[in-house]
Amino acid sequence: MPMFPDGFVQDLKNRADIVDVVGRFVQLKKQGSVYVGICPFHQDHKPSMRVTPSMGIYKCFACGAGGDVFKFVQEHERVEFPEAVRMVAEFSGIPVPEARPSTPEESARERERDRLLEMHRLACDFFERELRKSEVAKEYLKKRGLTGQTAKDFSIGWAPEDGDALPRRLREAGYTDEEMLRGGLLKRNPERNSVYCTFRARVVFPFFSSNKSVIGFTGRTLDPENPAKYLNTPETPIYHKGNELFALGVTKEEIRKEQRAVVVEGNIDVVQLWQGGVRNVVAASGTAFTPQQARLLKRYAGKRVVLVFDGDAAGQKAARKAIPVLLAEGFEVRVLTLPEGEDPDDFVRKRGGGAFLAQVEKAQDFVDYLVGAARLTPDSSPEKRAELAHAVKEIVGAIPDPILRESYADKAGDALRIDPRNLAEAAGREPPRPMRPAAAGFAPPPAIERDLARALLSPAALELDRTVADSFDPALLSDPRVAEIVDTLFEQISRLGAVDLKEMAELLSDESRDALTSILCEGDADRSEAAVTATYLQTVLFLQLRRIDARLKAIAGDPARLELWLEGNGQKRALENLRREAGRPDADLVGLLARYGEELEAPVREFIVKSKK
Ligand code: UTP
Ligand code: MN
Repeated sequence: MPMFPDGFVQDLKNRADIVDVVGRFVQLKKQGSVYVGICPFHQDHKPSMRVTPSMGIYKCFACGAGGDVFKFVQEHERVEFPEAVRMVAEFSGIPVPEARPSTPEESARERERDRLLEMHRLACDFFERELRKSEVAKEYLKKRGLTGQTAKDFSIGWAPEDGDALPRRLREAGYTDEEMLRGGLLKRNPERNSVYCTFRARVVFPFFSSNKSVIGFTGRTLDPENPAKYLNTPETPIYHKGNELFALGVTKEEIRKEQRAVVVEGNIDVVQLWQGGVRNVVAASGTAFTPQQARLLKRYAGKRVVLVFDGDAAGQKAARKAIPVLLAEGFEVRVLTLPEGEDPDDFVRKRGGGAFLAQVEKAQDFVDYLVGAARLTPDSSPEKRAELAHAVKEIVGAIPDPILRESYADKAGDALRIDPRNLAEAAGREPPRPMRPAAAGFAPPPAIERDLARALLSPAALELDRTVADSFDPALLSDPRVAEIVDTLFEQISRLGAVDLKEMAELLSDESRDALTSILCEGDADRSEAAVTATYLQTVLFLQLRRIDARLKAIAGDPARLELWLEGNGQKRALENLRREAGRPDADLVGLLARYGEELEAPVREFIVKSKK
């Protein structure tokens, strides 16, 4: 089933920056022409993973995980290939061309989704236009301290009192009531067998998908008596509230930049913080934080998240539920508790975004938060302590990394005066990442051959390669992996006039690809042509000598005789030198004999004796 047009995946693979993609999930450090980081696919604290941008691959030398950019996203995000392709495209800012689903059902579904998205875009424009016309709505936003620019940033709109205005507009554009019902913009009244508009007399905020399509709305009433303060789009083919984060479509770049997300409860909180300069912010928007939301956030936030939930009981309960969900996805969770009865919106309006940021910096880790929130005193009852310990144990148990789990258990044990083993043994609620079978030990090629390959990979080598390519004999190399690498390299140079490491990654055998990765991480290949030539000549001479050596040994069959022969040759040359020097008219024969006599006499005698045998 072709999911993407021909060539798209390959093209994306060539254009995607694997360092950028992997770097969203793993902290990478440059080393030579590769990047190293701690492998996320097994428990480790040494940087065993190599990301080689020139080949477009990653490889962990500890657990053996490895592959291209899609494989990484697939394994890390636990998604299927097509989803990984879509994610890589999104990370890279490359639009995914129309998928071409093959079954009629699939294409019908695709068509429906497209129409619903287009309809929502129109509805959003409609609401925004209505806002500009509505004095009450503008007055309301102003009263809440929100500017016109902020309204624009979030495409805030107004759903007019007249419940027929939107459907009229959408019908004109060719959408049916059935479609409006499917999208949640209309609701059915079964008693009267009629339909009515979901959002009426409400300030509406669109829900954006992460690629900024409008997929639903939330609407706030202006009527303080209305029990439904916010009304949200129901589950539809394009909106699943548990999968989405409010405002992510607007704030994701800021989250990515900060490598940290501030998660709040309310939509208004997000908007107010954004306006106050705290822009790396999202809201779960009326749902308990789900694992899907945590994974979605992880794509942008890296590891760091700060939960800012309302000071009231409901907010604290929501925070407590969100913590293990985020921990299970590998987040480092901090919690900021605002003064009782204040939400981020209130806080920013009173004290400004800067003061809020200062609070964010002071957010507690989740153990301090849980213990602090329980307000233990020296005379708290054993039952109260135990209850808290059970809650902490369950939350700590969600941490997949056993070492981190243990250190948080230690910390909580200290605070609760409980043996940390009681807290650490909890099994994670999500199974930890499966351990891979240990990779068969990787042995790097010999140093001299690695040097040669590295020299030949340098761009400066292209000059010398044309002549070298013909004379070089891969049989010189003892390591078959390096021989394959050098062979492929010369083949590419003669075919393409250049080295294409991405193609090379595909052409090479697994073992050779690993060897190449290890070679590339040893140092910079960008050296001067002179240095490359020197390395090349030195290594080639060395390799040739080694080969002559081996051949001589093989031919002679008898190493002892061979040695004798070589020694004899050396001695012969020395004797010849001696005779020449001695033949000069002014030669100091006494001195010469003193110098050479002792050295030569015994070996020469031996040589003569031996060669007579
Ligand atoms: P809050 O009641 O704390 O509202 O609900 P808020 O964010 O402070 O809103 P303002 O400042 O009064 O306008 C927090 C979140 O819970 C969801 C909304 O997502 C809201 O932002 N909620 C609340 C609903 O979905 N429906 C409701 O009736 C109330
Ligand atoms: Mn509020």
